[in-house]
Amino acid sequence: MSQDFTHKKLELYKQKIREIPNTSFNADQKKLALEILEKADPHNLEAIFSLLAKRIEVGFVFDIAPEVQQDAICLLKHNKELSFTPALCQQQHAMIFGENYDALKNLLVLYRGKVDCIYIDPPYNTESTKQDGNDYKSEQNSSGKFGYRDKFMRTGWLNMLNERLKLAKDLLSDRGVIFISIDDSEQAYLKVLCDEIFGEGNFVANLVWQKKKGGSQDSQDFAKEHEYILCYSKGTWEIYEQTQRHEEKDFNKTIDGKRAKILKLEKWGNHSLRTDRPTLYYPIKDPNGQDFYPIAPSGAEGCWRKKPENLDPEHIFWQEDSKGRLTPYEVLYFEEVQGKDKIIKTRTIFTDCGTTTDATKEIQAIFGTKAFATPKPTSLILKLLKIATSPNSLVLDFYAGSGTTGQALMELNREDGGNRRCILVTNTENNIARGVMYERIYRLCYGKGTKGESFAWADKNEPFSDQGWEVFEGQTHHLKIDDYETGERLKEVAIKAFKTLEPSCDLGDELNIYYTLSCLNPQKQEPKPPKGP
Ligand SMILES: C[S@@+](CC[C@H](N)C(=O)[O-])C[C@H]1O[C@@H](n2cnc3c(N)ncnc32)[C@H](O)[C@@H]1O
Repeated sequence: MSQDFTHKKLELYKQKIREIPNTSFNADQKKLALEILEKADPHNLEAIFSLLAKRIEVGFVFDIAPEVQQDAICLLKHNKELSFTPALCQQQHAMIFGENYDALKNLLVLYRGKVDCIYIDPPYNTESTKQDGNDYKSEQNSSGKFGYRDKFMRTGWLNMLNERLKLAKDLLSDRGVIFISIDDSEQAYLKVLCDEIFGEGNFVANLVWQKKKGGSQDSQDFAKEHEYILCYSKGTWEIYEQTQRHEEKDFNKTIDGKRAKILKLEKWGNHSLRTDRPTLYYPIKDPNGQDFYPIAPSGAEGCWRKKPENLDPEHIFWQEDSKGRLTPYEVLYFEEVQGKDKIIKTRTIFTDCGTTTDATKEIQAIFGTKAFATPKPTSLILKLLKIATSPNSLVLDFYAGSGTTGQALMELNREDGGNRRCILVTNTENNIARGVMYERIYRLCYGKGTKGESFAWADKNEPFSDQGWEVFEGQTHHLKIDDYETGERLKEVAIKAFKTLEPSCDLGDELNIYYTLSCLNPQKQEPKPPKGP
């Protein structure tokens, strides 16, 4: 380990200790912690700091994260053969095959603060929740076991997301937003982690997605038919999707010769009693000039929907209600509200965004088989993109799996003529990146497979022949900090790939590949059990 690197690290940790508020760690404690760090064996510096930090942190406490590998960097390598730019190409997207931690570090060089929407669908940690020491009912509860990037213990799983979400946050633009799919096993834990990373004030919603219907066949008690999508913003967040408050078809009356819709003036539902809203209890004149007070659905004294100053007497229409009682209604004239009544609201419960069965059918229509086990339906991601992106947004999915986000984005660009750009990252496990994500996107853009195969989707849909994709692979290079020559050569390699990904980028001299692109330590491979007898 180079002395310079150790020194920098030590100074960084000392600085972190000094920055801890005195309310959490008093001056004497800080002094002691600094002494311990000063005397620590350089090889154990990170572990010792983590141990000290554990004594201090009041929020989440993690197992020690894998260290950054000190002699390896990951660079993106452009794969020309797989990249494609159709003749009518309007927009060039990118796919990255490889470990997303490394990909995110590379993307930060180009897109810090520039990504408008991130959607991720990480491993849910479902099976391991039961198997790796988190199931308190389990007899083999081995809480000391620490699995990382495989079957995760909860702390390992949170740690894995913690590292990536912190990088993701730095990628988000000021108005950016992140959506994270998750189910009941870890939702609560992920929510707390995200509160820490993005800030509780930036929590937007915990969306509920109905992922299947008729789940009662396989349930003992409650039919679990939903999952969640946690949503956090970076700062100022604005919903793009607008919903019409009044649908045109509801203007089915003619009042004073004009198309109109009427709405009961007496409040119904929650808070419809005089005692709930005393200021909304006041008389209006009925058609005979008599005072008329609001009545709640229960028959008790009620309240109006509007304050007196907001109620235009010219817009009151009297008619008998369903019980034959003469009742006042507010009149809305179509020509008065048309185009002015957009509201920026959407529901938090998604019941009509496709199911997991729909997602599997989509995969079958493209591959002819269930080529991928856990896809999301395109309509779910389409809905999120409609809510959170403008026609020029940059969108990232770093657990892209079969590439559903890519399909949803191309569909939305087609629907509204947008120029959204998409970056998909997925690892190479089980040939997912090349065999599923890439193949799916290629098929959607060309209407045929990479080997000329035909498939059902293309019989009913026009291929996205105006969308091109550059393909990159993460490549690990060994680089010692004092190997200046190799460092300069690799820097050129890095810049070349960055310029292909973002031709307009200007990296200047400030790119320090060693610090910016250092990898995580590779996962230690468990020795494989010997093959059968
Ligand atoms: C649940 S799937 C995502 C499915 C996707 N939403 C879809 O509709 O197809 C998660 C994907 O993330 C990939 N993945 C898991 N860990 C990763 C990592 N560290 N880096 C990159 N990809 C990873 C897995 O290979 C898997 O394909």
